[in-house]
Amino acid sequence: MKRRNFLKGAGALMVGGVLPVSLVEVAFGKSKQENFTFAYISDSHIQQIKGNEFVRNFDRGLIRAVAECNMMDPKPDFVIYGGDLAQLGSKPEIDHGLEIMSACKHKVHYVMGEHDYYLDLGKYWESQLGPQWYSFDHKGVHFVVLNSIIVDEKWTNKWSSGEERMGVMAGLDNPLGSPFMVGAAQRAWLKQDLAKVSKDTPLVVLSHSPLQKIYKGWNFWTEDAEQIQAILKPFKKVNVFYGHVHQIQYNQIGNISFHSVMATAWPWPYPSTYSQASSHLPKLTVEMNRADPFFERDATGWQFIDVWSGNTSMHLQLPENNTRTVAFNKKRKRPEDKQYQSKRVPPQKHY
Ligand SMILES: [Fe+2]
Ligand SMILES: [Fe+2]
Repeated sequence: MKRRNFLKGAGALMVGGVLPVSLVEVAFGKSKQENFTFAYISDSHIQQIKGNEFVRNFDRGLIRAVAECNMMDPKPDFVIYGGDLAQLGSKPEIDHGLEIMSACKHKVHYVMGEHDYYLDLGKYWESQLGPQWYSFDHKGVHFVVLNSIIVDEKWTNKWSSGEERMGVMAGLDNPLGSPFMVGAAQRAWLKQDLAKVSKDTPLVVLSHSPLQKIYKGWNFWTEDAEQIQAILKPFKKVNVFYGHVHQIQYNQIGNISFHSVMATAWPWPYPSTYSQASSHLPKLTVEMNRADPFFERDATGWQFIDVWSGNTSMHLQLPENNTRTVAFNKKRKRPEDKQYQSKRVPPQKHY
């Protein structure tokens, strides 16, 4: 499906993504006029080498995403940045990332990623971008942004410096890590925030880590996911979008659809195929295909996410110009990849 055709045909609310930009169409409105689109960029990992030198590929991914957002037609109502703007959370990295983002012509709502946070516990990010969790309403949809990458306080405070802590947290399969969570304070805030929202109001929840448990070893995980899901349970239409995993993921838990958004920096493989250990297989309710770690552009590309009627359809525009759609199967009540659901690509072995 060509993007333009999709936009014309859908005519509702879209969330969009860039090259990895995603465009999300949100079509909850009673009339077409109430539907809207938003774009989604995530995980640029802007990394300083030294001085004014930054990792060029990561810069280019974000520059391209911003350019794509600016060219979208129709224009997205706003852009979500899904977290991990910086690699090691330093002021030069955040400044450089925000400088690239400043070319974006649309209002941007930012989500905190662990790479933005663990150097100074989000202080500099907050000084530039505002609160780490918040909500807003847009055309009848209630949006909630959470900081889902908080960990146990003991872990947070046990390091001799912010640099040391950030270095440990920046590793993917680091046994010294600590599981991410939203935490009690934010859960209390979320309950309070949602108390004033009608149960019929569509919810879009934006987090960095998945608000579901996929793989603890890599922190593709949120420790209090069940508690968050319980808070979201009374609402009829709930869509959760997250970054962090740098790969295509989708799942359905009760009333909640979960969808990841691709990264502008690099793809991660699926944890199960990487570990080659059945005990480490992620417990997912829907089978998925893995990313290919030997293909630099795997899991990057465009996506158009249509949340029409409260169920997400994700239209992925992949580097080979293939299109794939992950759409809600009404009969089985879960999102499925139409092309690959019955014919999975077997995991590759890595030596
Ligand atoms: Fe990331
Ligand atoms: Fe992350």
